[in-house]
Parts: sequence; structure tokens; C-alpha cells
Amino acid sequence: MKLRQLGVLALGAVAVVTGLAAARPEARAAGPSVMVYKAPTCGCCTKWMEYLEANGFTVKHEDMADVSPMKEELGVPRKLVSCHTAVVAGYVIEGHVPAADIQRLLREKPKLVGLSAPGMPGASPGMDTSDDPYEVLAFDARGTATLWAKH
Ligand code: CU
Ligand code: CU
Repeated sequence: MKLRQLGVLALGAVAVVTGLAAARPEARAAGPSVMVYKAPTCGCCTKWMEYLEANGFTVKHEDMADVSPMKEELGVPRKLVSCHTAVVAGYVIEGHVPAADIQRLLREKPKLVGLSAPGMPGASPGMDTSDDPYEVLAFDARGTATLWAKH
């Protein structure tokens, strides 16, 4: 009985601490954390990271001479590769994917490996060199790609 009461007390304490944290504005969680793997010389990758930060994401990165092994390890299908490869909440984001597509992914939590904007579409965020329409594709563990969004 005593142990059980202790447990209830401990739970109560946790709830109080959590409640306090939620009440303080500075304790509000920062946006989703994104880890970006990119080549050190990639300018468009940096622009995409800045764009994500402007859209509320917390962005970290690691430079690597060759991102290809990382793409393979993370399960990016070869036909969907772009410049950088990122990871957010266990999902893989390949290339210049718009923030809204990532936010929808994090909201819906589908059984997918991740999203890709294959190649480097000129109209994608961080590229901004054209107005040509492009597609963002979702891919699963088998490497099957499906349409996620048209831009
Ligand atoms: Cu790029
Ligand atoms: Cu890039």
C-alpha cells in the first residue's frame, strides 16, 4: 500500500513540474529539430537550412565530403536523390522539400521512410531559380515512391 501511495505521489509531482514548464513561455518547445547532412561547399543546402529556421525548425548540420553513403544508410532510393539529406523525427527528408510538406508529415505520421524533392527543382525553397512546377514524393522502405505534394 505504501509503495503504491508513493507512486501516486511521484506521478503527481511529475504532473506539477510539467504544468509549470508549459506555463512559462520560454520553456515552450522549439520547433522540430532537423539534422542535415550536406557537402561543405553546398550553398543551396545552407539556403534551405535558413529557410527551415525561418519556418520554425531547429536546424543542425554535419558536413561530409560525400553524402551518398548516408543516403544509402537512411534508405533514400537512388532515383530520388538530391543534394542534402536530412532527418527529422525519424523521417528522412531528401533535398529541397518545402516546410509545409514536412509539417504535414510530422502531423500525419504515415508509415513512410521520408520525402524527397528529387534533383534540385528550380522553384523549390533554397533554390529559387525558376517558377517551374515540381513534385515532392514520399517513399517507403521498399523504395516505392508516391506523390506527396505538387508545387
Ligand atoms: Cu541543393
Ligand atoms: Cu542541399
